[in-house]
Amino acid sequence: MNPEVRSSWDTDVLIIGSGAAGLRAALAASEHTDVTLITKTTLTESNTHYAQGGIAVAMNLDDTIALHIKDTCLAGAGLCDVEAVEMMVSEGIPRVAELLDWGANFDWEGTLPRFTQEAAHSRRRIVHKGDATGRETTDVLIQRVRNTERIHVLQNAFAIDLLTDADAQKNGEGSGTCYGVSAIVEEQVVRIHAKATILATGGLGRVYPCTSNPQIATGDGFAAAWRAGCEMIDMEFVQFHPTTLFLDGAPNFLISEAVRGEGGTLLNIRGERFMGKYHEKGELAPRDVVSRAIQNEMHLTQFPCVYLDITDKTSDFIHERFPTISATTKRYGLDISIDLIPVRPGAHFMMGGIRTNTDTQTSIQGLYACGEVACTGVHGANRLASNSLLECLVYGARAGRNAATFASTQPAHPPKLPILDNGQTSATLSTDTAEMEIEEIKSAIRETLWENVGIERNGAGLQSTLTVLQDITESLGDVVTRSDTKDVSTIETVNMLNVALMITQSALARTESRGAHYRADFPTPDDATWQHRILITQDNPPETVPL
Ligand code: FAD
Ligand code: SIN
Repeated sequence: MNPEVRSSWDTDVLIIGSGAAGLRAALAASEHTDVTLITKTTLTESNTHYAQGGIAVAMNLDDTIALHIKDTCLAGAGLCDVEAVEMMVSEGIPRVAELLDWGANFDWEGTLPRFTQEAAHSRRRIVHKGDATGRETTDVLIQRVRNTERIHVLQNAFAIDLLTDADAQKNGEGSGTCYGVSAIVEEQVVRIHAKATILATGGLGRVYPCTSNPQIATGDGFAAAWRAGCEMIDMEFVQFHPTTLFLDGAPNFLISEAVRGEGGTLLNIRGERFMGKYHEKGELAPRDVVSRAIQNEMHLTQFPCVYLDITDKTSDFIHERFPTISATTKRYGLDISIDLIPVRPGAHFMMGGIRTNTDTQTSIQGLYACGEVACTGVHGANRLASNSLLECLVYGARAGRNAATFASTQPAHPPKLPILDNGQTSATLSTDTAEMEIEEIKSAIRETLWENVGIERNGAGLQSTLTVLQDITESLGDVVTRSDTKDVSTIETVNMLNVALMITQSALARTESRGAHYRADFPTPDDATWQHRILITQDNPPETVPL
């Protein structure tokens, strides 16, 4: 039980999400003001918790900030915001150093962290804790949050919609101001009023059937921001990780890129090593290249997976370097020092999101965003491995600081807006939509996205998904504005529909291939027309904006 469930309460800074971004933001904001952090399930459940490979940081002796920036921008395929990248890479060094000071027990070699290699990095620059870097990172941050009196944590609190003064939007006075959220806490819909609000709700992998993401990743923050009129950007860029475990009965589980970084090779069902055909860097080619190559090999061999082979390493090395992967695969009967690992690509990371500047401000006053739900432009069209945790630490800290500063300028009592009475399409499904139907709707969204808005896309497929999404919306019949829905799964379904629409519309608009967005009908990049970003809002179709 949460000790104090009320119909509404106030805080200075409200943070939604307990991954690396939300936790780091809470610590930064709490240096200045009182903070409430809410999270959908438990404090420990997040994408961050499952992060394996590590955190990229230019700390190795042969490395430089300039090289890390260069690698990041190359991976981003011409769409990175260079100022934001410079900030992430340079501020990332003190952020990681501080994490070590706070007790992160990463792997060491002599007097330096043991840096590992991942795809498209020109240096070994990934600090890690075996293959459980995320758990180590969240453990350290959570302990610090728990020890900070000014941070009040509310678990099992599901944010539904932002509370905004939509009248300002309607009257053409900008995008309005955010004053907190409505949320479900202990089956009650409540209001949490805040002088400043930070969305740190993470990713949306669960809108696809194959994904590395845990169940919480249904894109709630993207959808809530979009419904509130926020500017969303780069939504066509979904990263597919080449290697998720493909085993009957096993859950979605990532096999870290670090396995290939340590020499793992990819084989098709015929036992042929194939990556050399597709890219000079072989298994360490960019993720989009490896994912498409695997998909092609699966097609050529008419087999539903390929295999990852790390059997040339000793059993001791594997169990020490990849303890989580080897223990998990063992549970399903594989000894990866002897057996090949069946893998295929899965949705992994969203490069796009809520448009923010480097101060993490969104287009709505009083609303900040950081981590995977935000888009500062650091990842461009494709994220470099292990740059996400770095982004969370850097921009999480910036968000916390900036939100606290903004809160200090606000009146003691912000306006008390009624729940969902803000002119937004706070749509939820009719209460009699049975649980079974909700699961079917979720599956239908996932299947159409996988089929047409996945690793490879084309105009006809994208159009057909738009029709399917419209049909799903209509078949729900009365997708109505209601203020009393308390069913989390139902609201997640609406959120999934919202993000599916944003991704599909943006992917249809970009008639070229770049980074993680591959259009079979426009297979090459077109710099002259498309070195631009795509902006989308709820009320406006996709439009291009300059870098
Ligand atoms: P998350 O860590 O996902 O946290 C989001 C939080 O918001 C969660 O607590 C969630 O419960 C909460 N939330 C969501 N919706 C709501 C709601 N409606 N109401 C209330 N709370 C809500 N990146 C790297 O840099 N290095 C790696 O090694 C790496 N490995 C990865 C391995 C896996 C298996 C996965 C899935 C991702 C990996 N990534 C890695 C990516 C990286 O982990 C994520 O991008 C990053 O952790 C996102 O952090 P975040 O704080 O933005 O969101
Ligand atoms: C991995 O360990 O392969 C994931 C790393 C990342 O997503 O950055």
